[in-house]
Amino acid sequence: MSLFNVYPLFDITPVSAKGLFVFDNNGNNYLDLYGGHAVISIGHSHPEYTNAISEQVRKLGFYSNSIKNPLQEDLATKIKELSGCENYQLFLCNSGAEANENALKLASFHTGKSKVLAFENGFHGRTSAAVAATDNAKIIAPINAQQKVDFVKLGDLTAVETVLKKNETCAIIIECIQGVGGLDESTTAFYKGLERLSKEYNTILIADEVQSGFGRTGDFFAFQKHKINPDIISMAKGMGNGFPVGGILIDEKIKASFGLLGTTFGGNHLACAASLAVLKVIENDNLIENANSISNYFKEKAQSLPKLKKVKGRGLMLGLEFDFPIAPLREALIYKHHIFTGSSKNPNVLRILPPLTIQEKHIDQFFEALHEEL
Ligand SMILES: Cc1ncc(COP(=O)(O)O)c(C=O)c1O
Repeated sequence: MSLFNVYPLFDITPVSAKGLFVFDNNGNNYLDLYGGHAVISIGHSHPEYTNAISEQVRKLGFYSNSIKNPLQEDLATKIKELSGCENYQLFLCNSGAEANENALKLASFHTGKSKVLAFENGFHGRTSAAVAATDNAKIIAPINAQQKVDFVKLGDLTAVETVLKKNETCAIIIECIQGVGGLDESTTAFYKGLERLSKEYNTILIADEVQSGFGRTGDFFAFQKHKINPDIISMAKGMGNGFPVGGILIDEKIKASFGLLGTTFGGNHLACAASLAVLKVIENDNLIENANSISNYFKEKAQSLPKLKKVKGRGLMLGLEFDFPIAPLREALIYKHHIFTGSSKNPNVLRILPPLTIQEKHIDQFFEALHEEL
């Protein structure tokens, strides 16, 4: 049986990984500045993480959400402690798209409205409402297009208000820093304006932190830099360091009732053990501080790069915007220098999304390779 051919593949077969490095079946090691698409937060095969999952699977790998699972409570407590987000409730699922799908459903249940306001160049996943709110016509099937979405330019508060005034919008969904779109971010005035307008027009503000959450930007959540309180916060990627886990933090004003949301696998014992281990390492190894200091080091070093237009992003959610398409450079970095990086919708932006455990010596290795290629 052949595989459904939806992924253009690099000709590399990893067989193991440790810390910042991925090892292939020919004995080559690759510096991972891509983190498996912003997923690897505490480094590959961290002992705290592998032990936690191994121990948990020996005890109890899975049982359904019809029984008590204190690990879910522990996870809620720890997320609150590390993020400082007070007065939220936690619902667990399995992926980023699912997190956003549940967030949009809740917004619609809560407000009784059905339209969504999303932003140009945003990406929210591939499930029904989430993909409809994603600004990419190629991945929206007719069945998804039934969901009505207004797309507005990032930063255009006047356009947001024009849409909200119609009183049909249940949710505004936004990535505070756009990931797939190419690392654009608006101003604090804009995000604060969104918070104000969402209250004024009875709309739920959803912060999509699937990529930017769990310390990646140098804050626990990217929106925290702008001092706003979204009604729902969606999370996934870095939350499990590779174990599939997602979730939403839901403002206390949104009330739960039995059966309103549900999932078979969401919040299972293994997923909780994985995510608790991630949070323990983020805390004990001061990884948010590390994200900030390595980010500064990276930005300083980038100043000396030729052909660079701009360094984008913050923390360890970074982009290098050049004055040329980066695809051949990215290939050279992979095949010649054995360094994984990412691309984006903007063809000139090379994306850097390493594990938060990265050190200066890894950044030096990357810039040596870049100087050679440029
Ligand atoms: C901001 C954002 N939201 C949602 C998603 C979808 O997450 P998943 O692929 O886990 O469904 C992604 C994935 O890249 C993302 O970057």
